[in-house]
Amino acid sequence: MSNFDNNPVVQGIDLIALAAQFGTPLYVYDGSVIRRQVQTLRDVFSGTDLRIKFACKANTNLAILRLMRELGVGLDVVSLQEFKLAEMAGFTAGEVTYTPSGADFAEIAEAIEAGLTLNADSIPLLRWFGERFGSSKPCMIRLKPNVAAGGNAKIMTAHAESKFGISVLLMDEILEVVRQYDIKITGLHQHTGSDIKDAEPFLQVAEVVFNAAANFPDLEVIDLGGGFKVSYRPDDAVTDMQLLGRKISDRFNEFCQSYGRKLNLWVEPGKFLVSECGTLLVKTTVVKEDPAKTFAHVDSGLNHLIRPMMYGSYHHILNLSNPAGDLKLYNVVGYICETDNFAEDRMLNEIRPGDVLAFKNAGAYGFSMSSNYNSRFRPAEVLIDGGVARLVRRRETLEDLVATQTGF
Ligand code: LLP
Repeated sequence: MSNFDNNPVVQGIDLIALAAQFGTPLYVYDGSVIRRQVQTLRDVFSGTDLRIKFACKANTNLAILRLMRELGVGLDVVSLQEFKLAEMAGFTAGEVTYTPSGADFAEIAEAIEAGLTLNADSIPLLRWFGERFGSSKPCMIRLKPNVAAGGNAKIMTAHAESKFGISVLLMDEILEVVRQYDIKITGLHQHTGSDIKDAEPFLQVAEVVFNAAANFPDLEVIDLGGGFKVSYRPDDAVTDMQLLGRKISDRFNEFCQSYGRKLNLWVEPGKFLVSECGTLLVKTTVVKEDPAKTFAHVDSGLNHLIRPMMYGSYHHILNLSNPAGDLKLYNVVGYICETDNFAEDRMLNEIRPGDVLAFKNAGAYGFSMSSNYNSRFRPAEVLIDGGVARLVRRRETLEDLVATQTGF
Protein backbone atom coordinates (compact mmCIF):
# COMPACT_ATOMS: atom_id res chain seq x y z
CA MET A 1 0.00 0.00 0.00
CA SER A 2 1.49 3.34 -0.97
CA ASN A 3 1.61 6.14 1.51
CA PHE A 4 -0.87 8.10 -0.60
CA ASP A 5 -3.57 5.81 -1.88
CA ASN A 6 -7.16 6.15 -0.82
CA ASN A 7 -7.28 2.84 0.98
CA PRO A 8 -8.67 3.48 4.48
CA VAL A 9 -7.43 0.12 5.79
CA VAL A 10 -4.28 -0.45 7.87
CA GLN A 11 -3.24 -4.05 8.51
CA GLY A 12 -6.81 -5.14 7.83
CA ILE A 13 -8.26 -2.54 10.20
CA ASP A 14 -10.73 -0.02 8.82
CA LEU A 15 -9.80 3.54 9.80
CA ILE A 16 -13.36 4.81 9.70
CA ALA A 17 -14.41 2.08 12.11
CA LEU A 18 -11.44 2.98 14.29
CA ALA A 19 -12.54 6.63 14.33
CA ALA A 20 -16.03 5.49 15.37
CA GLN A 21 -14.64 3.20 18.08
CA PHE A 22 -12.14 5.59 19.67
CA GLY A 23 -13.55 8.95 18.56
CA THR A 24 -11.83 11.79 16.78
CA PRO A 25 -9.37 13.43 16.65
CA LEU A 26 -7.29 10.28 16.77
CA TYR A 27 -3.64 9.62 16.02
CA VAL A 28 -3.18 6.19 14.45
CA TYR A 29 0.26 4.60 14.03
CA ASP A 30 1.07 1.67 11.76
CA GLY A 31 3.83 -0.38 13.42
CA SER A 32 4.64 -2.21 10.19
CA VAL A 33 5.81 1.07 8.64
CA ILE A 34 8.24 1.62 11.51
CA ARG A 35 9.56 -1.94 11.09
CA ARG A 36 10.02 -1.32 7.35
CA GLN A 37 11.85 1.97 7.85
CA VAL A 38 14.23 0.49 10.44
CA GLN A 39 15.01 -2.37 8.08
CA THR A 40 15.66 0.04 5.20
CA LEU A 41 18.19 1.96 7.27
CA ARG A 42 19.95 -1.23 8.29
CA ASP A 43 20.04 -2.43 4.69
CA VAL A 44 21.45 0.77 3.21
CA PHE A 45 24.16 1.12 5.87
CA SER A 46 24.91 -2.61 6.02
CA GLY A 47 28.59 -1.98 5.20
CA THR A 48 29.14 -0.22 8.56
CA ASP A 49 28.65 -0.93 12.24
CA LEU A 50 25.50 1.20 12.30
CA ARG A 51 23.56 2.14 15.42
CA ILE A 52 20.22 3.83 14.95
CA LYS A 53 19.24 6.37 17.60
CA PHE A 54 15.62 7.39 17.12
CA ALA A 55 15.28 11.15 17.73
CA CYS A 56 12.39 10.58 20.07
CA LYS A 57 11.32 14.22 20.19
CA ALA A 58 9.44 13.22 17.04
CA ASN A 59 7.19 10.84 18.96
CA THR A 60 7.49 9.88 22.62
CA ASN A 61 4.51 7.59 22.95
CA LEU A 62 5.75 4.78 25.21
CA ALA A 63 4.37 2.10 22.90
CA ILE A 64 6.37 3.55 20.00
CA LEU A 65 9.49 3.71 22.20
CA ARG A 66 8.96 0.11 23.25
CA LEU A 67 8.61 -0.93 19.62
CA MET A 68 11.88 0.83 18.82
CA ARG A 69 13.56 -1.04 21.65
CA GLU A 70 12.13 -4.34 20.45
CA LEU A 71 13.65 -3.57 17.04
CA GLY A 72 17.07 -2.89 18.59
CA VAL A 73 16.90 0.84 17.93
CA GLY A 74 18.44 3.20 20.53
CA LEU A 75 17.26 6.72 21.30
CA ASP A 76 18.48 10.28 21.13
CA VAL A 77 16.94 12.33 23.93
CA VAL A 78 17.13 16.08 24.39
CA SER A 79 15.85 16.37 27.95
CA LEU A 80 15.97 14.48 31.21
CA GLN A 81 12.23 13.97 30.87
CA GLU A 82 12.65 12.21 27.52
CA PHE A 83 15.19 9.97 29.23
CA LYS A 84 12.73 9.17 32.02
CA LEU A 85 10.22 8.15 29.36
CA ALA A 86 12.93 6.07 27.68
CA GLU A 87 13.56 4.27 30.98
CA MET A 88 9.83 3.59 31.33
CA ALA A 89 9.95 2.00 27.89
CA GLY A 90 12.80 -0.27 29.07
CA PHE A 91 15.86 1.56 27.74
CA THR A 92 19.06 1.76 29.77
CA ALA A 93 21.30 4.82 29.74
CA GLY A 94 23.83 3.00 27.56
CA GLU A 95 21.27 2.73 24.76
CA VAL A 96 20.48 6.42 24.82
CA THR A 97 22.41 9.46 23.66
CA TYR A 98 21.76 12.86 25.21
CA THR A 99 21.77 16.00 23.06
CA PRO A 100 20.42 18.91 25.10
CA SER A 101 20.35 22.38 23.57
CA GLY A 102 21.17 25.12 26.04
CA ALA A 103 19.70 23.14 28.95
CA ASP A 104 20.26 24.05 32.58
CA PHE A 105 23.55 22.57 33.84
CA ALA A 106 21.78 21.16 36.92
CA GLU A 107 19.59 19.04 34.62
CA ILE A 108 22.65 17.98 32.65
CA ALA A 109 24.44 16.95 35.87
CA GLU A 110 21.47 14.80 36.82
CA ALA A 111 21.43 13.18 33.38
CA ILE A 112 25.15 12.41 33.52
CA GLU A 113 24.82 10.95 37.01
CA ALA A 114 22.03 8.77 35.61
CA GLY A 115 24.57 7.34 33.16
CA LEU A 116 23.93 9.31 29.98
CA THR A 117 26.82 10.46 27.81
CA LEU A 118 26.56 14.16 27.15
CA ASN A 119 26.75 15.65 23.68
CA ALA A 120 28.21 19.03 24.68
CA ASP A 121 26.84 21.85 22.55
CA SER A 122 28.71 24.89 23.87
CA ILE A 123 32.20 25.78 25.09
CA PRO A 124 30.91 26.87 28.54
CA LEU A 125 29.20 23.49 28.89
CA LEU A 126 32.36 21.66 27.86
CA ARG A 127 34.36 23.66 30.40
CA TRP A 128 31.76 22.96 33.11
CA PHE A 129 31.91 19.26 32.23
CA GLY A 130 35.71 19.31 32.48
CA GLU A 131 35.71 21.07 35.86
CA ARG A 132 33.13 18.72 37.23
CA PHE A 133 33.95 15.35 35.71
CA GLY A 134 37.42 15.66 34.14
CA SER A 135 38.27 12.33 32.56
CA SER A 136 36.00 10.33 34.88
CA LYS A 137 33.10 10.22 32.40
CA PRO A 138 33.02 10.06 28.62
CA CYS A 139 31.84 13.08 26.68
CA MET A 140 30.76 13.73 23.11
CA ILE A 141 30.84 17.04 21.26
CA ARG A 142 28.08 18.39 19.05
CA LEU A 143 29.81 20.26 16.26
CA LYS A 144 28.32 22.93 14.08
CA PRO A 145 29.74 22.25 10.62
CA ASN A 146 28.53 25.52 9.06
CA VAL A 147 26.57 23.85 6.27
CA ALA A 148 23.10 25.16 5.40
CA ALA A 149 20.57 22.45 4.49
CA GLY A 150 17.00 21.59 5.36
CA GLY A 151 13.42 21.92 4.18
CA ASN A 152 12.93 25.45 5.55
CA ALA A 153 14.91 28.00 7.56
CA LYS A 154 13.30 26.98 10.86
CA ILE A 155 14.52 23.41 10.62
CA MET A 156 18.11 24.07 9.49
CA THR A 157 20.44 23.46 12.39
CA ALA A 158 24.01 23.43 11.07
CA HIS A 159 24.48 26.73 9.27
CA ALA A 160 26.86 29.36 10.61
CA GLU A 161 24.11 31.33 12.37
CA SER A 162 22.35 28.35 13.93
CA LYS A 163 22.23 28.19 17.73
CA PHE A 164 23.09 24.49 17.74
CA GLY A 165 26.46 22.91 18.45
CA ILE A 166 29.99 24.28 18.75
CA SER A 167 31.29 25.83 15.56
CA VAL A 168 34.13 23.88 13.98
CA LEU A 169 35.81 27.27 13.62
CA LEU A 170 36.33 27.16 17.40
CA MET A 171 38.40 23.98 17.25
CA ASP A 172 41.44 25.57 18.93
CA GLU A 173 39.30 26.64 21.87
CA ILE A 174 37.62 23.21 22.04
CA LEU A 175 41.00 21.50 22.15
CA GLU A 176 42.31 23.87 24.79
CA VAL A 177 39.41 23.01 27.11
CA VAL A 178 39.66 19.29 26.36
CA ARG A 179 43.40 19.32 27.18
CA GLN A 180 43.04 21.52 30.24
CA TYR A 181 40.62 19.10 31.89
CA ASP A 182 41.81 15.92 30.22
CA ILE A 183 38.27 15.28 28.91
CA LYS A 184 37.82 11.92 27.21
CA ILE A 185 35.99 12.73 23.97
CA THR A 186 34.45 9.47 22.80
CA GLY A 187 32.24 10.79 20.04
CA LEU A 188 31.68 13.59 17.58
CA HIS A 189 28.14 14.51 16.66
CA GLN A 190 26.42 16.82 14.25
CA HIS A 191 22.84 17.22 13.06
CA THR A 192 22.37 19.18 9.86
CA GLY A 193 18.62 19.80 9.84
CA SER A 194 15.36 18.23 8.78
CA ASP A 195 13.81 17.35 5.39
CA ILE A 196 17.16 17.16 3.59
CA LYS A 197 16.66 15.57 0.20
CA ASP A 198 20.10 15.47 -1.40
CA ALA A 199 23.00 13.26 -0.41
CA GLU A 200 25.43 16.14 -0.93
CA PRO A 201 24.93 18.03 2.38
CA PHE A 202 25.18 14.76 4.34
CA LEU A 203 28.49 14.01 2.62
CA GLN A 204 29.68 17.56 3.13
CA VAL A 205 29.06 17.52 6.89
CA ALA A 206 30.55 14.05 7.17
CA GLU A 207 33.81 15.43 5.73
CA VAL A 208 33.79 18.26 8.26
CA VAL A 209 33.35 15.77 11.10
CA PHE A 210 36.00 13.39 9.73
CA ASN A 211 38.46 16.30 9.50
CA ALA A 212 37.73 17.29 13.07
CA ALA A 213 38.13 13.69 14.24
CA ALA A 214 41.88 13.75 13.71
CA ASN A 215 42.09 15.93 16.84
CA PHE A 216 40.51 13.31 19.10
CA PRO A 217 42.37 10.02 19.64
CA ASP A 218 39.75 8.32 21.85
CA LEU A 219 36.77 8.34 19.51
CA GLU A 220 34.39 5.41 19.48
CA VAL A 221 31.49 7.05 17.67
CA ILE A 222 30.71 9.37 14.78
CA ASP A 223 27.09 10.50 14.92
CA LEU A 224 25.87 12.11 11.71
CA GLY A 225 22.41 13.06 12.99
CA GLY A 226 19.11 12.67 11.17
CA GLY A 227 17.18 14.71 8.65
CA PHE A 228 16.52 12.21 5.83
CA LYS A 229 13.61 13.43 3.75
CA VAL A 230 10.43 11.38 3.37
CA SER A 231 7.57 12.19 1.01
CA TYR A 232 4.91 14.45 2.40
CA ARG A 233 3.42 15.17 -1.04
CA PRO A 234 2.57 12.37 -3.47
CA ASP A 235 5.11 13.76 -5.96
CA ASP A 236 7.84 14.68 -3.45
CA ALA A 237 11.42 13.82 -4.25
CA VAL A 238 12.95 12.08 -1.25
CA THR A 239 16.43 11.19 -0.07
CA ASP A 240 17.86 8.38 -2.18
CA MET A 241 18.69 6.20 0.79
CA GLN A 242 20.48 3.53 -1.27
CA LEU A 243 22.83 6.11 -2.72
CA LEU A 244 23.29 7.96 0.56
CA GLY A 245 23.92 4.75 2.49
CA ARG A 246 26.51 3.55 -0.01
CA LYS A 247 28.34 6.86 -0.24
CA ILE A 248 28.40 7.53 3.50
CA SER A 249 29.38 3.94 4.29
CA ASP A 250 32.26 4.00 1.78
CA ARG A 251 33.62 7.29 3.07
CA PHE A 252 33.11 6.24 6.68
CA ASN A 253 35.04 3.01 6.17
CA GLU A 254 37.83 4.90 4.40
CA PHE A 255 37.92 7.35 7.27
CA CYS A 256 38.12 4.53 9.84
CA GLN A 257 41.13 3.13 8.00
CA SER A 258 42.94 6.44 8.14
CA TYR A 259 41.89 6.92 11.77
CA GLY A 260 43.37 3.51 12.53
CA ARG A 261 40.38 2.01 14.28
CA LYS A 262 36.85 0.87 13.51
CA LEU A 263 34.27 3.25 14.93
CA ASN A 264 30.51 3.01 15.34
CA LEU A 265 28.44 5.04 12.93
CA TRP A 266 25.31 6.50 14.50
CA VAL A 267 22.39 8.09 12.71
CA GLU A 268 19.56 9.84 14.51
CA PRO A 269 16.44 10.06 12.37
CA GLY A 270 13.05 11.15 13.60
CA LYS A 271 10.88 11.70 10.53
CA PHE A 272 12.38 8.85 8.55
CA LEU A 273 11.34 6.35 11.21
CA VAL A 274 7.91 7.62 12.23
CA SER A 275 6.48 10.26 9.89
CA GLU A 276 4.80 7.91 7.45
CA CYS A 277 3.53 5.53 10.12
CA GLY A 278 1.16 8.13 11.51
CA THR A 279 -2.24 9.42 10.42
CA LEU A 280 -4.36 11.98 12.22
CA LEU A 281 -8.05 11.18 11.82
CA VAL A 282 -10.41 14.12 12.24
CA LYS A 283 -14.13 14.65 11.75
CA THR A 284 -15.65 17.42 9.67
CA THR A 285 -17.73 19.66 11.91
CA VAL A 286 -19.17 22.13 9.43
CA VAL A 287 -18.76 23.03 5.77
CA LYS A 288 -19.01 26.77 5.21
CA GLU A 289 -19.68 28.00 1.68
CA ASP A 290 -18.26 31.48 1.80
CA PRO A 291 -18.19 33.75 -1.27
CA ALA A 292 -14.38 33.70 -1.16
CA LYS A 293 -13.64 30.10 -0.13
CA THR A 294 -15.29 26.89 0.93
CA PHE A 295 -14.13 26.10 4.46
CA ALA A 296 -14.21 22.56 5.79
CA HIS A 297 -13.87 22.85 9.56
CA VAL A 298 -12.61 19.82 11.45
CA ASP A 299 -12.55 18.86 15.13
CA SER A 300 -8.83 19.57 15.43
CA GLY A 301 -6.48 22.47 14.91
CA LEU A 302 -3.00 23.84 15.47
CA ASN A 303 -3.24 22.40 18.98
CA HIS A 304 -2.98 18.88 17.52
CA LEU A 305 -0.90 19.25 14.36
CA ILE A 306 0.97 22.53 14.23
CA ARG A 307 3.31 21.75 11.33
CA PRO A 308 1.19 23.37 8.58
CA MET A 309 0.80 26.58 10.57
CA MET A 310 4.33 26.69 11.97
CA TYR A 311 6.36 25.75 8.91
CA GLY A 312 3.84 25.91 6.08
CA SER A 313 4.23 22.13 5.91
CA TYR A 314 2.13 20.09 3.51
CA HIS A 315 0.15 17.15 4.88
CA HIS A 316 -1.74 15.08 2.36
CA ILE A 317 -5.45 14.90 3.16
CA LEU A 318 -7.91 12.18 2.20
CA ASN A 319 -11.66 12.20 2.66
CA LEU A 320 -12.01 8.62 3.86
CA SER A 321 -15.81 8.87 4.04
CA ASN A 322 -16.32 9.92 0.43
CA PRO A 323 -13.38 8.65 -1.66
CA ALA A 324 -15.38 8.73 -4.89
CA GLY A 325 -16.96 12.14 -4.31
CA ASP A 326 -16.61 14.96 -6.83
CA LEU A 327 -13.41 16.94 -6.49
CA LYS A 328 -13.92 20.41 -5.03
CA LEU A 329 -11.69 23.17 -3.78
CA TYR A 330 -11.40 23.58 0.01
CA ASN A 331 -9.61 25.35 2.76
CA VAL A 332 -9.40 22.72 5.48
CA VAL A 333 -9.37 24.61 8.76
CA GLY A 334 -9.39 23.86 12.45
CA TYR A 335 -11.65 24.69 15.37
CA ILE A 336 -9.14 26.89 17.19
CA CYS A 337 -9.64 30.65 17.49
CA GLU A 338 -6.61 31.37 15.35
CA THR A 339 -6.01 31.10 11.64
CA ASP A 340 -5.29 27.40 11.69
CA ASN A 341 -5.32 26.33 8.07
CA PHE A 342 -4.36 22.71 7.53
CA ALA A 343 -4.62 23.22 3.77
CA GLU A 344 -5.45 26.08 1.45
CA ASP A 345 -7.09 25.71 -1.95
CA ARG A 346 -6.82 21.92 -1.85
CA MET A 347 -8.79 19.75 -4.29
CA LEU A 348 -10.50 17.06 -2.24
CA ASN A 349 -13.37 14.64 -2.68
CA GLU A 350 -16.54 16.44 -1.64
CA ILE A 351 -16.55 16.97 2.11
CA ARG A 352 -19.78 16.68 4.06
CA PRO A 353 -20.36 17.32 7.77
CA GLY A 354 -19.40 14.18 9.67
CA ASP A 355 -16.90 12.98 7.06
CA VAL A 356 -13.70 11.52 8.46
CA LEU A 357 -10.56 13.07 6.98
CA ALA A 358 -7.09 11.58 7.24
CA PHE A 359 -4.00 13.78 7.54
CA LYS A 360 -1.09 11.69 6.35
CA ASN A 361 2.51 11.72 7.65
CA ALA A 362 1.44 12.78 11.12
CA GLY A 363 3.64 10.32 13.03
CA ALA A 364 6.57 12.71 13.50
CA TYR A 365 6.22 16.01 15.37
CA GLY A 366 2.45 15.60 15.48
CA PHE A 367 1.30 14.61 18.94
CA SER A 368 4.72 15.47 20.40
CA MET A 369 4.20 19.15 19.47
CA SER A 370 0.55 19.25 20.51
CA SER A 371 -0.88 21.51 23.21
CA ASN A 372 -4.03 22.32 25.15
CA TYR A 373 -4.56 25.69 23.49
CA ASN A 374 -8.18 26.87 23.71
CA SER A 375 -8.42 24.39 26.60
CA ARG A 376 -8.99 21.59 24.12
CA PHE A 377 -8.07 18.03 24.99
CA ARG A 378 -5.20 16.40 23.17
CA PRO A 379 -6.14 13.41 20.99
CA ALA A 380 -6.04 9.74 21.82
CA GLU A 381 -3.43 7.54 20.11
CA VAL A 382 -3.79 4.04 18.68
CA LEU A 383 -0.97 1.74 17.58
CA ILE A 384 -1.76 -0.96 15.03
CA ASP A 385 0.81 -3.73 15.15
CA GLY A 386 0.57 -7.41 14.35
CA GLY A 387 -2.91 -6.77 12.95
CA VAL A 388 -4.21 -5.54 16.31
CA ALA A 389 -5.27 -1.97 17.15
CA ARG A 390 -4.37 -0.93 20.67
CA LEU A 391 -5.24 2.30 22.46
CA VAL A 392 -1.84 3.61 23.58
CA ARG A 393 -2.98 6.96 24.94
CA ARG A 394 -6.46 7.82 26.10
CA ARG A 395 -8.08 11.11 25.25
CA GLU A 396 -7.61 13.79 27.89
CA THR A 397 -10.35 14.87 30.26
CA LEU A 398 -11.17 18.05 32.16
CA GLU A 399 -9.38 16.56 35.18
CA ASP A 400 -6.16 16.37 33.12
CA LEU A 401 -6.53 20.04 32.16
CA VAL A 402 -6.68 21.21 35.76
CA ALA A 403 -4.43 18.57 37.33
CA THR A 404 -1.48 20.93 37.74
CA GLN A 405 -3.42 24.07 38.71
CA THR A 406 -3.35 25.11 42.35
CA GLY A 407 -4.39 28.00 44.53
CA PHE A 408 -7.59 28.98 42.76
N1 LLP B 1 18.97 14.83 15.93
C1 LLP B 1 18.85 16.04 16.49
C2 LLP B 1 19.87 16.52 17.40
C3 LLP B 1 17.72 16.82 16.20
O1 LLP B 1 17.59 18.02 16.76
C4 LLP B 1 16.72 16.32 15.33
C5 LLP B 1 15.55 17.11 15.02
C6 LLP B 1 16.88 15.04 14.78
C7 LLP B 1 18.03 14.33 15.10
C8 LLP B 1 15.87 14.40 13.87
O2 LLP B 1 15.58 15.10 12.70
P1 LLP B 1 14.59 14.43 11.63
O3 LLP B 1 15.23 13.13 11.18
O4 LLP B 1 13.31 14.19 12.31
O5 LLP B 1 14.47 15.41 10.53
N2 LLP B 1 9.48 19.99 14.24
C9 LLP B 1 10.11 20.07 12.92
C10 LLP B 1 11.39 19.30 12.86
C11 LLP B 1 12.37 19.77 13.91
C12 LLP B 1 13.46 18.83 14.06
C13 LLP B 1 14.25 19.15 15.30
N3 LLP B 1 15.37 18.31 15.45
C14 LLP B 1 9.12 19.55 11.88
O6 LLP B 1 8.04 19.10 12.25
O7 LLP B 1 9.39 19.66 10.67
